[in-house]
Amino acid sequence: MSSPVAELHMHIEGSLEPELIFALAERNSVQLPYTDLDDLRSRYEFTDLQSFLDLYFANMQVLRTAQDFADLTRAYFARASAGGVAHVEFFFNPQAHVNRGVPLHEVLDGIMDAVGTSEREFGLSSAAIAAILRDRPVHEAEEVFSEIIRLQTPIVGLGLDSAEVGNPPSLFEDVFARARSEGLHVVAHAGEEGPPEYIWQALDLLGAERIDHGVRALEDPALVARLVDEEVPLTVCPLSNVRLCVVDSLSEHPLRTMLEAGLLVTVNSDDPAYFGGYVDDNFAQLRDQLGLTDAERETLARNSITASFASDARKAQLLRG
Ligand code: HPA
Ligand code: ZN
Repeated sequence: MSSPVAELHMHIEGSLEPELIFALAERNSVQLPYTDLDDLRSRYEFTDLQSFLDLYFANMQVLRTAQDFADLTRAYFARASAGGVAHVEFFFNPQAHVNRGVPLHEVLDGIMDAVGTSEREFGLSSAAIAAILRDRPVHEAEEVFSEIIRLQTPIVGLGLDSAEVGNPPSLFEDVFARARSEGLHVVAHAGEEGPPEYIWQALDLLGAERIDHGVRALEDPALVARLVDEEVPLTVCPLSNVRLCVVDSLSEHPLRTMLEAGLLVTVNSDDPAYFGGYVDDNFAQLRDQLGLTDAERETLARNSITASFASDARKAQLLRG
């Protein structure tokens, strides 16, 4: 049995599987623009991040009630746990739901209900990170964050996602400063499609403790040195990078180069329902196509636990296997 893994970069809405989309559409009387499952599945071909985001946001329309969010979160926990994930820190996108008329408390109640029972139900510790949509106005981020704090929601951190190019971290300095002053952890997507400069900004302006993706850091040796020196974790998503054309193929993925450079790399699924698999699928395909060794897998598993925001006691427990 392999060592347990922590998944630190996945979007809960990105675990919405086609079957669940149809089931929730039925339950909520939502008219889908797809004739059947095959028609929906035929649309999972992406050319870049935006082409994926268009489908990701469109499919969220079936998520309406706290029950929907709880069912979605539990379905992911069950699948992740079966694949060897023992701890998860997942993103959710509050603006994507509030902006289409779903009350914030429905989102939070559903997600937090599942988080509250994950250890008992699935043997999986879990925590939620609210992710800001960087391609939406800054004031909207401020408003939704204020509401999450006012409701005293027990999230573990604040993140930044959605369309990266043209939406630099610098725009969100104030809301991230507020998150830090609230005692929250902060992370940011940077260097997926955007330039190394966005990774510098995430570190220097947002105080990001982890960089989500970060693969483009390799273009900037001074940045790599900084990330190695400060042991900043990079939550890399190999299958996502292939499906969104960030890299040409898994066999050409820079994961091993990153490990050899001394970067604190972890492997994650990002949006598993959209990108061809969960964390265990990422590891299996890395083994088959990149020749990932057992020793490298072990390093990546340990990195994921070290890089997590779990308590020291939980980390020690997970590191013991
Ligand atoms: N990048 C940016 N935003 C996202 C992603 C991603 O990989 N997945 C869901 N939202
Ligand atoms: Zn992501």
